[in-house]
Order: sequence, then structure tokens, then C-alpha cells
Amino acid sequence: MVICKTVADLRAYLSSRPRGPRLGFIPTMGALHDGHASLIREAKAGGRFTVCSVFVNPTQFNDPADFQKYPKTIESDILLLEQAGVDVLFLPSVSEIYPTGVVLTKHYDLGYLETVLEGAYRPGHFQGVCQVVERLLRIVQPDDLYMGQKDYQQCMVIRRLIELEQLPVVLVVCPIRREADGLAMSSRNLRLDAVHREGATAIYEALEMIRRRVSEVLAAPLGSAPARRGSGAAPEAAAAPLAPITAEARASLEAKGFRVDYVEIADGTTLQLLESWDGRAPAVALIAAFWGEVRLIDNEVLAPKRSS
Ligand code: PAF
Repeated sequence: MVICKTVADLRAYLSSRPRGPRLGFIPTMGALHDGHASLIREAKAGGRFTVCSVFVNPTQFNDPADFQKYPKTIESDILLLEQAGVDVLFLPSVSEIYPTGVVLTKHYDLGYLETVLEGAYRPGHFQGVCQVVERLLRIVQPDDLYMGQKDYQQCMVIRRLIELEQLPVVLVVCPIRREADGLAMSSRNLRLDAVHREGATAIYEALEMIRRRVSEVLAAPLGSAPARRGSGAAPEAAAAPLAPITAEARASLEAKGFRVDYVEIADGTTLQLLESWDGRAPAVALIAAFWGEVRLIDNEVLAPKRSS
């Protein structure tokens, strides 16, 4: 694996590589785990020449303490990348990425996405994410960009960034990787002590509870709501009211000591928050909660009901 620390070195290396395989890019903030490795595996399985970046981006941390405490494990990161068969590691300094200073120089019109869930709870966060991802994409110039569904809303924001800036790159979203007990893999898990690590699975359990409750309601008989006779219309689908289900999930987390930011179910395509769901269009259940000092997020896509 080649390691490039400057934009000039990376550009020189990439321009001299033989034409052929598409370039797959995996941006990271380090503290790598098997979730990152799964993005690399996906890129390599598709025959991509792979570039991975490790850069802890200061402009996306709305909480300076969170930035200071972000885990840094560059030696084991390099080992993981080498074992995963990454071709190039881009390991820039802050001044390499932000030569004119660490400030937001432009506003991205992210619309509704910036007002809800992570956008509402972490003001400015997605502006910083867009700033660094745009910069990295313009430096690396990949054909394909690999990101994890663990950051569901971030993937939607990046899709919007690509549209806004008309960047010639294909976004590939890869499934969440989980530990054996269900905890979603995350660099922040490194900050959990043994006791908190064990209890952290409650978030996944709450998501699973949501999935089960929603499918129970959708599977229940339609009751006495027949299709209008002679209308030719299909019977109305049962819709699961979601507030009691998300309230139960929130209460179960709070009872265990979590400080919950949100438990919501949203339209899987627009992220509009749903009050009920008829199981037709994809939906997603999303949770963000502090467990001790560490803020964890997770989500689970609720698969649409198959029509019979
Ligand atoms: O998901 C992350 O690790 C970061 O937000 C990203 C995309 C690398 C930008 O800093």
C-alpha cells in the first residue's frame, strides 16, 4: 500500500497509474473497524483500484470535546488497510485539506435534511461533512464512493451534495456491520468502557423491538374495513400507528439510563418523519442516544410488506 500525505503526491501517483479499473474511494476518520473493511471488500469485489483516506475533519464536530476525544489509532488503521488490500492511503494534515484555514467557506443547500434528526441535533455538522467530502472528492476524483448505511442521513446528504455540485461519482451505500451481539460497528465504540460496551446493545434491541411491533401491527387482520363494493379498488392497507411504538422504544432506553436524542421512524427515501406506516414504501427506524459520555446512532430499514 502506498501512503500519500500531500495532495501533490496523491495526484502525481494517481495520474501515473495505468488506465483500467475504476477508482473506488472510501473516506474515513480512522479508528477503523470491520465496518470500514466491509466497504473496502465491496470496492475490491467490484475490481476497484481503492483509495482510502484517514482524516479527522475538524469542521464537522459541533462539539469541540467530541473532536478532542475522537479515537486515533493510525498504526492499527494502517495494518487493517494493508490486510484489506487497499492500494493507496491518503493521510493528509489539516493544512493540506484546509490550506486557507479551518473555516466553512461555503453554504450547501441541504434543505429539509439539515433540519431533522442529526441535522437538528448537530447544528453545522452536515455543512462540515459536505465541505470535507467535496474537497476529498475533488482531490481523489473517484468513480465510486463507498459509504456505510450506519450513517443513513449522512448518505442522503452526500447524495444531495453530489447532485448540488454535479460531481461525477457514483455513491455506493453498504449495509451496517454489527458485532455478534448486535451493536453497530462504530469508531465511537472504542470510547465505551466495559460496562457501557455491554449495555450499548440496548439500542439495537430497541430497533429490533420496533421492527417486530411494526410487523405485528401490519400483519394483523384488516378488521371491518372492506374495499368499497364495485369500486374495483384494492382494500385499504392497515397502517401501523408509530407513536406508541417509538415511545416504548424510547422508554426502554431511558429506563436503562440512556439520554435519548431521538427515536423516530421516517420515510426511507425522503426522511420525512412518519406518524403511521402502511408497509408499502421503505421506511427506516433511527435512534440517537448518549450512553454515558458517548453519543451512539443506529438505524434499521423496515422492509416494505410484500404484496400478495
Ligand atoms: O463518516 C465519516 O467517517 C465522516 O463523516 C466522513 C464521511 C469520512 C467525512 O469526514
